[in-house]
Amino acid sequence: MVTNPIDLSATFHQGGPTEYAREHTAIWASLEEAVGGLEGGAAVALSSGMAAVAAVLELVPPGGVVVVPDDAYTGTRLGLGHLESLGRVIRRVVDVADAAAVGGACEGAALVWLESPTNPLLELADLAAAAGAAHASGALVAVDNTFATPLLQQPLALGADLVVHSATKFLSGHSDVVLGVVAGPPGEPLERVREHRTRWGAIPGPFESWLALRGLRTLAVRLERAQATAALLAERLERHPAVVRVRYPGLAGHPGHDLARRQMDGPGAMLSFELADAATADRVLDALELATVATSLGGVETLLERRSRRRGEEQLPPGLVRVSVGLEDGEDLWADLGAALDRAGRRG
Ligand SMILES: Cc1ncc(COP(=O)(O)O)c(C=O)c1O
Repeated sequence: MVTNPIDLSATFHQGGPTEYAREHTAIWASLEEAVGGLEGGAAVALSSGMAAVAAVLELVPPGGVVVVPDDAYTGTRLGLGHLESLGRVIRRVVDVADAAAVGGACEGAALVWLESPTNPLLELADLAAAAGAAHASGALVAVDNTFATPLLQQPLALGADLVVHSATKFLSGHSDVVLGVVAGPPGEPLERVREHRTRWGAIPGPFESWLALRGLRTLAVRLERAQATAALLAERLERHPAVVRVRYPGLAGHPGHDLARRQMDGPGAMLSFELADAATADRVLDALELATVATSLGGVETLLERRSRRRGEEQLPPGLVRVSVGLEDGEDLWADLGAALDRAGRRG
């Protein structure tokens, strides 16, 4: 057999390698071996990226301090706000691009949560410096590696204790599955994440795991193509008069450009750009014919979204448009986006 079988059984004859499908399944093991191997460790697959985030946050002792980026995935920020409102954790919010601020915030923390590049502002954290400061204070370090993928960045090698993925995105790659993964060196604390999954049941379904494995097979070629197109779009966007600012770590003017070159094997396939205001951004998005206006990222279709329209993202620049670059022809995409900007996006 070349691909993995899909086993739908919820229970198994006693005495075999697995007895119940909330505890262990063969297809999780295959997926975990693949993602863990790419991250340089072992892995635990969960039912969504947020289930993976929640499993890691459960490691924080009651009342523990969690350092969290001011720009990070909304679900993570809102989830931590919820836990703080319950008195479960204390948040310490930092600008992850400011390595000194991150270092200063680590003292007394239980967990340093990092995301790099951040969603949606594409800010970069110096992961090795942050891990060093966190460990000096006895804190755990978790890195959300969803934007970079393990092909472009390996946080465990830079000192992180755990890596979190929304495997819904690039790892699966086709916008047809919701799934999460936590990776880490074998043993603690990763085994506590596995126990959390068995205890609370945030398990991926067999078909979702199969789809994730299928998507993973083409990650390298998808990412290479999408990244090349992202670079092309970022350069063209930067030259367009309607565009106020482009955020892409591959651009020489990005504040994290040098760090990206040291820490990453490529700037990735995500970028954001700013237009004058929300109305201009909406006009541009309305004028698109090829690219799709939708949330989420990492799939084969190029997706654009004005992020400030979402709950929890009101603090973002109103005209900020996030782009997840897909596999369409780069010149076709620019023809579409450039025309939309020409028609709808002129300033003033
Ligand atoms: C960076 C990042 N982390 C985590 C998540 C949550 O993942 P999921 O939607 O699979 O629960 C997302 C979702 O957009 C994300 O963008």
